[in-house]
Amino acid sequence: MKKPTVYCCKNHSELGRVAASLIAQQISQNPNLVLGLPSGKTPITVYQELRKKYDNEELDCSGVTTFNLDEYFQRGKGDADSYYTFMHERLFKYVPFKASYLPNAKPADPKEMSTSEYLTLIDEECSKYDKLIEDCGGIDVQLVGIGSNGHIGFNEPSDEISGGTYLVDLAEQTIKDNAEKFYNGNKSEVPKSAISMGMEQIMKAKMIILIANGISKAKAIYDALEGPITPQVPASLLREHEDVIFVIDEATASLID
Ligand code: F6R
Repeated sequence: MKKPTVYCCKNHSELGRVAASLIAQQISQNPNLVLGLPSGKTPITVYQELRKKYDNEELDCSGVTTFNLDEYFQRGKGDADSYYTFMHERLFKYVPFKASYLPNAKPADPKEMSTSEYLTLIDEECSKYDKLIEDCGGIDVQLVGIGSNGHIGFNEPSDEISGGTYLVDLAEQTIKDNAEKFYNGNKSEVPKSAISMGMEQIMKAKMIILIANGISKAKAIYDALEGPITPQVPASLLREHEDVIFVIDEATASLID
């Protein structure tokens, strides 16, 4: 098993520059790259740097197709707190891609059908998402963040390894973290579930770049790199992948050797 490469950056800004350069390098080698993307606070500096590179004519994403890792359940286009809106505001509005996809977490009005019909529809949407990724040739480079509990996408600590895209309940810790980061601490406003690529889907990517900054991620990074490989720490599973790069800052790296 090849050990993940770890780049330790001074701070969040440098992390953005390093991760964006890695992505840009992959795009220059393969202009038709299929790129997996996360939402959240951590990738903001990466998206700022990609935008700078595009503005400076150092980056052409016109052949690149993107797939987001996840979307909050029953959120989408038109919802201020959806990942769709986040991605549009942070990246897609500025940098043109060939095509950009997010899981369809709002395929119909749930009031118009029974719960079981609605869940079947969600299941179909998840399968369609996996099929679309496959039809595009699979993900070449997958950028991921990490939760303070070690989650990747919304694959929360669990006894089992998740497979393809699926509907998942968010862990209490994730709801708390997201409330603090995006909802002024108001947990009741945070969506409690999401559609997320499963771990097996994520592990199919040819290359995975994990980004993390800040002391709140130090324990998760320690567990991911030095603890047991277990679905209880989904990020630890990345160590079974042949081509993984961790781009982290000094605070996040403070517990590792
Ligand atoms: C979001 C996602 C999550 C985040 C993680 C870290 O699309 O997949 O796994 O990457 O929760 O979020 P931030 O970057 O806000 O700390």
